[in-house]
Amino acid sequence: MKVNENILISSLTTMRLGGPARFVLEVETPEEVADAYGFAEQYHLPTFVLGYGANTIGHDEGFNGVIIINRMKGISIETPTNAPEEKSDLASGQSSLSEGHKTWASAPERPEERELDHSPIKLKIMGGEYWDDVVEYACNKDLTGIEALSKIPGLAGAAPVQNIGAYGQEIADTLVEIDVYDTLDRTYKTLSRADLNFSYRKSILNTTSKNRYFVISITLELKPGEMPRPLYNSIEQYIATFNITDYSPMSIRNIVSTIRANKLPDPLVQASAGSFFKNIYLDESAADAAEAKGYPVYRGKDGNKINSGWLIEQAGLKGKLIHGFRVSDKAALVLINESAKSYQDLANARNEIIGKVYDKYGFWLEQEPVELQ
Ligand code: EPU
Repeated sequence: MKVNENILISSLTTMRLGGPARFVLEVETPEEVADAYGFAEQYHLPTFVLGYGANTIGHDEGFNGVIIINRMKGISIETPTNAPEEKSDLASGQSSLSEGHKTWASAPERPEERELDHSPIKLKIMGGEYWDDVVEYACNKDLTGIEALSKIPGLAGAAPVQNIGAYGQEIADTLVEIDVYDTLDRTYKTLSRADLNFSYRKSILNTTSKNRYFVISITLELKPGEMPRPLYNSIEQYIATFNITDYSPMSIRNIVSTIRANKLPDPLVQASAGSFFKNIYLDESAADAAEAKGYPVYRGKDGNKINSGWLIEQAGLKGKLIHGFRVSDKAALVLINESAKSYQDLANARNEIIGKVYDKYGFWLEQEPVELQ
């Protein structure tokens, strides 16, 4: 276990805010997870599990506690025929703390081709793997299920916490189980998909059992094949515009990567935490009422939603600089930290945006990233 002291949270999070953390522990084996919590207990300090820092906001006063980061790497495949397991260690998108700045992952080598039938395949992925390396690995094997989740910044272990989702897929669709360390009874356990109680950007890991479990690894079930059509709106539009006929996982990955690169800031270039606000989900009667007022309501398999980006745009805030944060002119849900230095600036910008949208539409926007406290 690597022990670091007095590390600025701004250097560990893509929004680049936050004062010093007393300790940052990097764990490389499941046994070290228990050691890390033991360390915190010895010092009587609280703990916080951090991944790539792409969805976490630091506070100005820092964190007088112990941040724990999963550095466990590796992917193993369980083939349906019980053929020998294939193991792989991917290049990581996150450099070690001592190397300072983070770099994008170099593409993993294309694995050897092997014959696939159409049965599902289970991948067990250690939580410290960089998520997009996992997506690339699966697409290289022509496995469908996570290709639309391409280029989401973060570590694999963080993916189930907020049930990452984009372009018609969410990790809840393919996740089978996760291996965790339970800090309540200090045991290692396996939690099933049902145990995790997934919904939009939620699981028990960020709600009812927040801070209880440390995710060691995740197991996904993927299938050889393609995503069913119709695909997410912007993908269908892209396919029509460029006459694309290849819907393979790698082709969809390339499309999603292009759409994202055109819309969402690269966190290594522009400080941001991706979508800063959640979309708004409505029950039937609220959806009917919103539609009666002429608001665009999308009725999908995951419920009825109003795009918060639309609300922010209609409130006249798209492209505006508010307390040092730019409301992205490409995706209004995204706040880019252009010149803010303090959490207070973020709180001011957030309150102003929430207030303006509420005054105009009566919807209360909810922050998406978590706060490190
Ligand atoms: N829209 C606007 N103005 C905007 C942005 C969006 O009017 O500035 C409306 C448009 O009608 C557009 C629709 O919202 O067609 C959907 O926009 P988009 O496809 O960009 O998706 P989103 O709802 O803004 C969500 C996720 C993103 C994810 C995309 C694609 C949340 C909070 N955000 O954004 O996730 O990449 O869908 O699936 O659910 C993230 O969580 O960090 C993130 C980037």
